[in-house]
Amino acid sequence: MTLEVRSEPNGFGASVEGFRANDPSAELTAELRRLWLKHQVLTFPDQSLTPVQLKCFSRQFGEFGEDPFIAPLAAHPHVVEVRREPSEKVLPFGGSWHSDWSFQETPPSATLLHAAEVPPVGGDTLFADGYRAYEALPSNLQSELEQLSAIHSARRPYTLQGFLAGGGLERSMRITPSDQALNTQNHPIVRTHPETGRKALWINRVYTISIRGLDKPQGERLLQTLIDHALQDRFVYKHRWRKDMLCMWDNRCTQHCAMGGYDGYRRVMHRTVIAGDRPV
Ligand code: SIN
Repeated sequence: MTLEVRSEPNGFGASVEGFRANDPSAELTAELRRLWLKHQVLTFPDQSLTPVQLKCFSRQFGEFGEDPFIAPLAAHPHVVEVRREPSEKVLPFGGSWHSDWSFQETPPSATLLHAAEVPPVGGDTLFADGYRAYEALPSNLQSELEQLSAIHSARRPYTLQGFLAGGGLERSMRITPSDQALNTQNHPIVRTHPETGRKALWINRVYTISIRGLDKPQGERLLQTLIDHALQDRFVYKHRWRKDMLCMWDNRCTQHCAMGGYDGYRRVMHRTVIAGDRPV
């Protein structure tokens, strides 16, 4: 097996070719896992996959995680369809910076997203590298942040009044808002990756709602400073999709944002998540 790996110039993100995702082997999985831990975001062009094949490939990387607040495909409980129709005017699903389900006690380690239908313009996904963001902070701030933790919650998007819950606009994805979205989890701001041992800045605009132990204005100021720092262009990789491209990212050290810019066109992706552990 010879994989062709094309890494982004700074090593954050890589495209991998020379294998068939619909025929995974233990050897292939081990090599892809090694590359994924190194590059954080892997893209696999030209992988035509049915939802069953996507599930089968995804399961090579662990047990499925839990997807709250979204109804999955009827025949595939672990596959969510990320769909936006040409007539929709709502913010794309995933259209604000976040790390998947960071409000869970054990958020997913990986997300896999397969492009079933891609618009001719727009619809890119941006990824931000939490390792480099952490490493670029002054050492005194790094030490200070290591003593702090942040509160994560799904309340902004997924309560009945949340920004994904409706607001009278048509949305083809079946969002299921609930009061469960008010629950909170306390997670470290500097997360140590359980497999690489590297430290990442681990806060995000959608789900991180406050900093524990700081008063509201002080917490909001620090959070905004950290978010602005983490989303600088130098830490961001912009991914342009093609039909049948599969992408796999590491939620433990990255965050991402789905871009719009394709009103009038359909975009359909199939998504799985792999269970992770409690952030430390
Ligand atoms: C997501 O946030 O999981 C969706 C990303 C995308 O559709 O590009």
